[in-house]
Amino acid sequence: MIIAVDGPLASGKGTIARALAARFGLPHLDTGTLYRGVAVAMLEAGIPPEDAAAAEAAARGLDAAAIDEAKIRTAGAGSAASVVSAHPGVRAALLELQRNFAHQPGGAVLDGRDIGTVIAPDADVKLFVTASEEARAWRRHAELTSRGEQWRYDDILGQLRQRDARDAARADAPMICAEDAIALDTTEMTIDEAIRSAIKIAETRSACASG
Ligand code: C5P
Repeated sequence: MIIAVDGPLASGKGTIARALAARFGLPHLDTGTLYRGVAVAMLEAGIPPEDAAAAEAAARGLDAAAIDEAKIRTAGAGSAASVVSAHPGVRAALLELQRNFAHQPGGAVLDGRDIGTVIAPDADVKLFVTASEEARAWRRHAELTSRGEQWRYDDILGQLRQRDARDAARADAPMICAEDAIALDTTEMTIDEAIRSAIKIAETRSACASG
């Protein structure tokens, strides 16, 4: 079974995807780590993320196993990731790895922005996880604070809007809800409630697929 979990920043999609993977015993790939890995390689080399050719080269040379979790989770890496991810060459370089992961025997859970539309349009279950801008900005604020980064809420909200706009407006694989995806709005939900809803949707969908 292939499960695609898409949605914007801090919607809860990562936590939901991990919980679905545990529930169904499937491997999980957080595809944002790949774009963040490319962004960190660019930042460390002192190359602006707007440089499309250099970003594509960084994507082609990316060693997914060597991605440093601490470095990719900063706000700066996230912003730069949304710039490098708009380069078609970067997306093309990372496509095969993601498609192969999705289509491994037994299936997988992947989360990102274009899983249900581009990486695995054939996924058995597609979720598009959303939440209000304000709820997501507060979640992101709490996450960054817990990592020791000091940010004002208003600045986080501004960055989030900028990233959403960039991810939704890019020409190549923009962030959109696939036609056959189920939207899950987590604004008023605790993370446990969101996980329970997602599991219920996946169980119903997978039962339909096998029956
Ligand atoms: O999900 P996360 O916030 O870690 O992703 C970082 C950035 O990587 C996103 O803002 C988006 O620009 C890009 N991304 C993407 N396609 C994916 C996953 C992430 O364009 N499948």
